[in-house]
Amino acid sequence: MRLLLFLLTLYLMSCTNAPSKKQAATEQLSAAPHDDHSYANLEQINTKHLHLDLEVDFESQTIYGIARHQMKNKGADTAIFDVKGLLIQKVTLGKKGAEKETDFMIGPMDKDSIIGQALLVNVDSKTTDVNIYYQTTENSGALDWLDTNLTSSKTKPFLYTQGQAILTRTWIPLQDSPSNRITYSADVKVPSDLLALMSAENPTKLHANGLYHFEMPKAIPSYLIALAVGDIGFKDLGQHCGVYAEKELLNQCAQEFEDLPQMMRVAEKLYGAYQWGRYDVLVLPYSFPFGGMENPMLTFANPTLLTGDKSLVSVVAHELAHSWSGNLVTNHSWSDLWLNEGTTVYFEQRIMEALRGKEIADILAQVEFGELQQTLAEMAADSSLQDSKLHLDLVNRDPDIAMSDIAYVKGAFFFKTLEQAVGRKQLDAFLNSYFQHFAYRTITADRFIDYLEQELLAKTGADFNYREWIFQPGIPKNCVSINAPRLDKIQLFAKEFNAGTNPFKPKVKYKWIRKNGKRRKIKQRITIQYTDYLIQEWQLFIRALDPKTKIARLAALDQQFHFSQTQNSEILCDWFVLAAQSNYIFKIETPLRSFLMKIGRRKFVLPIYQALMKSPEGQKLAKRIFNDAKNNYHSVTRSSVWKVINAKD
Ligand code: BES
Ligand code: ZN
Repeated sequence: MRLLLFLLTLYLMSCTNAPSKKQAATEQLSAAPHDDHSYANLEQINTKHLHLDLEVDFESQTIYGIARHQMKNKGADTAIFDVKGLLIQKVTLGKKGAEKETDFMIGPMDKDSIIGQALLVNVDSKTTDVNIYYQTTENSGALDWLDTNLTSSKTKPFLYTQGQAILTRTWIPLQDSPSNRITYSADVKVPSDLLALMSAENPTKLHANGLYHFEMPKAIPSYLIALAVGDIGFKDLGQHCGVYAEKELLNQCAQEFEDLPQMMRVAEKLYGAYQWGRYDVLVLPYSFPFGGMENPMLTFANPTLLTGDKSLVSVVAHELAHSWSGNLVTNHSWSDLWLNEGTTVYFEQRIMEALRGKEIADILAQVEFGELQQTLAEMAADSSLQDSKLHLDLVNRDPDIAMSDIAYVKGAFFFKTLEQAVGRKQLDAFLNSYFQHFAYRTITADRFIDYLEQELLAKTGADFNYREWIFQPGIPKNCVSINAPRLDKIQLFAKEFNAGTNPFKPKVKYKWIRKNGKRRKIKQRITIQYTDYLIQEWQLFIRALDPKTKIARLAALDQQFHFSQTQNSEILCDWFVLAAQSNYIFKIETPLRSFLMKIGRRKFVLPIYQALMKSPEGQKLAKRIFNDAKNNYHSVTRSSVWKVINAKD
């Protein structure tokens, strides 16, 4: 960052038509201790309310916009915003109708193109209104413009945005730091046959003139501003909850997520009243790069959650939980993503426990713990164990690094272990007061520690090694272990299979029955069915299989349980990863290819490409498929896969 600022200083000094106050601007630039991923000079001047005037043009795949910032100015002569991949046309000062153009300049891109560019606007110490006229470009990484063929309708196009972590600056010029909270409103013009939705109060029906007005009256961080435009319908689920989706998927969504009202009741009972009015879920097209994204009032969700058996609804529980952890109490910078995600995974598990019982919740947690162990093993192998700390140093690094099982699962096990140390009642009381105390504010590891010491540890007299958890790599020894006896069976299957026997051979059993007053012995053939076990149990089974398993045995397993044909993408992903470690993958190239062409959720797509890249033949296949599929992915997934495919080792 320092180097960047220095370069920016040089650039500003060498710039002949720079604003007259360029020197002052550079001095201010070096005083940005708040966030390593934003240029904004929030201490001097910061946005309080943002009004967006937007026109969404599908023809040119461009958003034409005016970002009207209402700012609190402590005497600044420059206002600094973050931009990346935007074209800035002009900047004016003053209220709408009484605007005057002002000078602005755009700094250089940072070395690795992570944080983008600073937009420096000349203001005076009294300025409160800054209006930036701009348009997006094909480098606006937040935007995913889908042609009709990539939607369910196949007749209407679709657009959605993904802001977290630092992509909002690619579609709106703003101070893109979670440390600054703003309210926002928007006037959006879209084609008249499409519905527009935002992370705000939303319409439920099409407006014939294509004009939509939005209000988000509660202060939120910029990464939560979101927009979606498409042929979208709505279905109410009760209890202020509902689903939006492309019309073809609407009934399926309503069924899959029918437990939402119950989840809401459970969540409120645990950690206090829901603060955001309505809670709706928007199911996006298949390219959406995440399972879910907690955009306030309107969670964005991946259609891979629509399994027909509610087996993946914990993702929705997770996004709902973010309405407290993350959206009310927000990580101050991306170094503490664990304070958003770890708290949320813990909360999610509590919702699932209340909904499905402890046995199921423990199984879910056990699957995640297995993933954490695998991540740690990989980190140890590529000497990145330093990144297994909860609090991360992200200077000059992509904040994406923080999105790993460390923030999520180690974070959740921090709270589970804390629960064991102080008791559930005490931890719940603490979390309740934490959400209240820090509501609409941001949290750093240090502030969290102070509050933890004062409000939990001092009160209970408990001793807890939180420093080791937060600032040291690895998993501390006192980490709770999950006891999920039901998983023993599936582990045994894997063990038997790896030892060369087939645990799924039909078993013959004899049973006594009474017929016409006589006792008779009957013979029964017992076969294990796919539906006898949970999706999560099958996942554990597949993950435990020996990667060197002979092709014929994998084929037999596939024939019995149809793993390659399942619609459940969790299973498909694990199965393809296993298959990619042998030549079996070439036998299931057709389903593999259609999976990777259709689905853009990074968590699934990336491990498959990673596994393929381990062999020369796999590499060829990976490159061929990626070449055809890359335009179907959101930039988040595309750039992650690109790195894997083009990695020099
Ligand atoms: N907020 C995250 C997604 C995210 C994190 C995007 C960091 C960009 C940077 C979201 O809540 C999330 O965690 N999604 C998970 C869901 C899962 C853990 C239940 C996902 O997409 O897999
Ligand atoms: Zn999350």
